Formats: sequence, structure tokens, C-alpha cells
Amino acid sequence: MTAEQFVPSDGDLAALAKAAAHCEGCELYRDATQTVFGHGNEHARYVLVGEQPGDQEDKRGLPFVGPAGALLDRALAEAGIDPAETYVTNAVKHFRWKSAPDRGKRRIHEKPGTTHINACRPWLLAELSRLRPKVIVLLGATAGQSLFGSGFRVGKSRGVPVDWQPPEGSGPGAKAVATVHPSAVLRAPDRDTAYAGLLADLRTCAELAGRLD
Ligand code: URA
Ligand code: SF4
Repeated sequence: MTAEQFVPSDGDLAALAKAAAHCEGCELYRDATQTVFGHGNEHARYVLVGEQPGDQEDKRGLPFVGPAGALLDRALAEAGIDPAETYVTNAVKHFRWKSAPDRGKRRIHEKPGTTHINACRPWLLAELSRLRPKVIVLLGATAGQSLFGSGFRVGKSRGVPVDWQPPEGSGPGAKAVATVHPSAVLRAPDRDTAYAGLLADLRTCAELAGRLD
């Protein structure tokens, strides 16, 4: 399973997004409403990578427009990161879900598996090769695993800039900084502490981008 054959080798971000709408690189396209491709400034200094679209993103076709997105927007503003300087995307571009146990209409988020992360990686690499950001913000383990392999954990490495090198021939590298996923902040028993951690990591990203200017 891979998106590889669906990814155009040339063309800009708009061309990628158009092609991604027809991706059948793994089975997730079957039960989702639409591909949710990345969105934002094509000259962004910061590329933020989430896990996968949620229920609202799936319906609207845009990343981070639900509750996690609202929290992320607030944290970015507090960290002094201008949304106009960002591009927001996900490691996996279709919503993976299961039915609620009560068999109602509610769709419950299901974490993407390693096969989905690997299948969808060519889209993320293609986006990064066009974007050439200074800083890649990895929101949670799934984003980290997409770019650094399945052993990646946020706990050990969060808030510490590391060099990311793309596969040969697909553009320059960037600094990557991992942090907690905004949804994890929303679920945390101590939300204030979790939020403060996210904010501190985003401030690190802002300082880093400033130094790289
Ligand atoms: N969570 C994500 O990881 N991505 C989104 O786009 C929304 C919620
Ligand atoms: Fe293609 Fe990614 Fe969707 Fe799978 S999740 S069908 S690889 S766009």
C-alpha cells in the first residue's frame, strides 16, 4: 500500500492537492468523505504536521478546523507565530474512524496504523519538497513517525530541534521540533499543564525560526 503512484513528480502544491483528491494509496479513502490535503502559505516558514483529519476536517475538507484546531490557533497566537506564515497538514490525509458502540451515526476517531502512515508519507514528502520550510512542527507521535520512523516517540525528544533530512533528491532539509498533539492537550487530566508544554515548544519553534533568518 502506497500513495507513490498517485503523487505527481512535478507541479506545485495546487497540483499535488488536486491529484491527492483521487488517491487510493491505502483503504482509508473508502470510508472517508474526502482527502484533506495541507493548507496554508506556500512560502511558509513553519509547516505544522498533525496526525490525520478528524470528523469536522473530513466534512469540510480542511485540516485543523475542529476543536484541536481552535486550541492550536490559540497556542500559535500566544507563541507569536503568525498563522499567515504557516502551512498546516497531516501525516495521513484521510479520516480513519469506526462506528460508535451504540451503532449511532457518530464516528469515532481511530488512530492511523503504521501501514497508513507509510502509505501516505509520499504526500507529506511531496508537500515538504515544494514548501521548503525552516521549521517543521511535529504535532504528536504520528507526525514524528512519518518523518523519523516507527520508533519515534514525542516524550524523549519534544521541544528539541533536530535535523530532518528528506530522502535524496527531494529538496533541502529543515529543523524539526516535536510536541504534543493539541487533541492530547484537550484530553489531558491537567489541561493547563499540557497546554503550557505545547506553548513552550511552540515558543522554541518561533525562536528557532528567528535565529535561522
Ligand atoms: N487532528 C489532527 O491531527 N489533524 C487535524 O487536521 C485535526 C485534528
Ligand atoms: Fe492516499 Fe493517504 Fe488517503 Fe491512504 S490516507 S488513500 S495514502 S491520501
